[in-house]
Amino acid sequence: MVNIETNIQNTKYRPEDIQGNIVRGYNFKYVRHLILEVSDVKAARRFLAASVSDDSGDVPSITRETSWKKKPESCFNIGFTYEGLKALGLSRKQLASFPKEFVEGMTKRALKIGDFGESAPETWPAPFDQPDRVHIVASVHAKNIKSIDGIQDIVARSFNVIGVRDGRALDKGKIVFGYVDGISQPKLKHVHDPSEDKDDQPINPLGVVLLGYPTRLEGVLFSLPQPEKELGFNGTFNAFRVLSQNAAEFETYLTEAAEDLLKHKDIDHLLPAKEVKLFGKGHTRKSAIREIVAAQMLGRWRNGVPYETSPDTPNPDPEVSLTNFNYGYKSRCPVGAHMRRANPRGGPIVQHVANRTRRIVRRGMVYGPDFDPSKPDNEERGLLGNFIGANLGAQFEAIMYDWLNLGLQHPDITGSNDPILGANSRETSWFDLTLKNGGKIRLRGFPRFITSRGGAYTFLPSIRAVKYLSDLSG
Ligand code: HEM
Repeated sequence: MVNIETNIQNTKYRPEDIQGNIVRGYNFKYVRHLILEVSDVKAARRFLAASVSDDSGDVPSITRETSWKKKPESCFNIGFTYEGLKALGLSRKQLASFPKEFVEGMTKRALKIGDFGESAPETWPAPFDQPDRVHIVASVHAKNIKSIDGIQDIVARSFNVIGVRDGRALDKGKIVFGYVDGISQPKLKHVHDPSEDKDDQPINPLGVVLLGYPTRLEGVLFSLPQPEKELGFNGTFNAFRVLSQNAAEFETYLTEAAEDLLKHKDIDHLLPAKEVKLFGKGHTRKSAIREIVAAQMLGRWRNGVPYETSPDTPNPDPEVSLTNFNYGYKSRCPVGAHMRRANPRGGPIVQHVANRTRRIVRRGMVYGPDFDPSKPDNEERGLLGNFIGANLGAQFEAIMYDWLNLGLQHPDITGSNDPILGANSRETSWFDLTLKNGGKIRLRGFPRFITSRGGAYTFLPSIRAVKYLSDLSG
C-alpha cells in the first residue's frame, strides 16, 4: 500500500475521466466483447489516441461517465490485460507497480478462483487458450447488432481481433436458470444520491470501485499503478468471465431434490400443504418445492423477490422492497445462499471487519440460445460477466475463494461451496435448507452447475490513462 493521502485530498470526482461502464450500467439489448491482440503497436496507439480525443474521426470514442441527453446507438469501452500493457510499451518498472494478481493474470490465479477440473484454463476454447495473446477486451454495447458490426470493422483495422463473445439482455432482466439479475449494486458516494434512491444499504466510498480514493478499510488505500498521476486515478480492475451455466442439469436437480423432499419427515416445516396456494395458480406441492430450493440456493425467488423478507411466497402482499433488507441470526435466508455469501450485508460473519468491504459492481449479459425447460438440451449458454472493483485480490478473489467456495465466513457453512456457482461435485456437495421451525434439511449430491469457459483480468483505465498509454513510444 502507498501513502497517497495528499493526492486524495486534491482529487475530485471527475466523471469525464471515468469510463462509463463502471459505476453505472447502460441497459442496452446487445453486447459484443472483442478480444484483441496488439499486432501493430503504432496503429494501436493511434487508435487509443483517437478514442479519447475531441475529434475521433471514425474511431469509436470511449464512452465516459457523463450523462447523455439522448442515449447513443452504442457505447465503447476498453480494458487492458497485463500482457496488453506490456505490448503497448509500458516499462518494466511501471508494469511491476501493478498488483500481483493482475500481473499474474486470471489463468495463473485459477486455483484461487475455482478454475480447476472442468473449469481449468487448459480446457478453455480460443482465444482464451492463449492468454499471452489476450491483450485487450473492448466491449461494445448497442441497440442493434449492425452498429456492433460497424464498430468491430473499424477496430479490426488497428488490432488483431482474436475472438468475440456476443451477449444479449433477456426479457425482464432474467438470466439463464431463470432468475432476475442486476438488482443489487453498490451505491457510491458522489455518484448516487441517497435521497433519490430506494436502496437503504450504506453508501460506499468511491475507493471501493475506483482507484485513488479512500476505501472502506480505515487507513487502507489500494496501491496505485505508476506513474500514479497518470495511471493511478479513476481507473479500476475487472474480472471478465465467460461462465457456462448448465440449465438442463440445474432444472433436473431441482426436480430430484423436490421428489426427495416430498418424502422427508420434515416436509411440513418446509412447505405445509395448505401453503401451496401462496405460489399462485397451477402450482403443485412438488413444483412449489422446486421453487423453494431454487430460491434458498440463490437468496432470491426467481422473480427477484428476496427470500429474506418473503420466505413463504414469491408473491408477497403487499410487495416488499427488492433491495432493503439485512441478514440476522434468525434469518430464513440460508447463510449458504449465493447472494448472502457474495455480500453478507450487515449479517453475522466471522470476519466482521470484511462485511461490506468486498463490494463489487456486476455487469452481465446472457450468451447462447434460449433455454426451454420443457425441451432441455446441452447447448452452451451462460453469463458474460464483468466483476469490477478497485482491488481484484481483496474483493473479487477474496469473495471467490473465501466466501463462495469454502464458506469461511460462517461456521455453519465452512467446508461447503456456493450451491449455484461453487466448484462442487456430486460426491461432496451439501447445502442446508432452512425450515419454518428453525430446523434444517441438508441437500446433497448436486453437481457443479457453472463452469468457466474463458476470461481475463483487465485494467479499466481512466480517460487520462488511455491518453498516457497512447503517448508511449518505442
Ligand atoms: C453465472 C454465474 C452467476 C449467476 C447465475 C449469478 C446469479 C446471481 C443472481 C440471480 C443474483 C441476484 C440478483 C441481484 O441481487 O442483483 C446475484 C447476486 C449477486 N452475485 Fe451472482 N451470479 C453469478 C456469478 C457471480 C460471481 C462470479 C460473483 C462474485 C465473484 C457474484 C456476486 C454476486 C453479488 C455480489 C450479488 C449481489 C448480492 C447483494 O448485493 O445482495 N455472482 N447473482
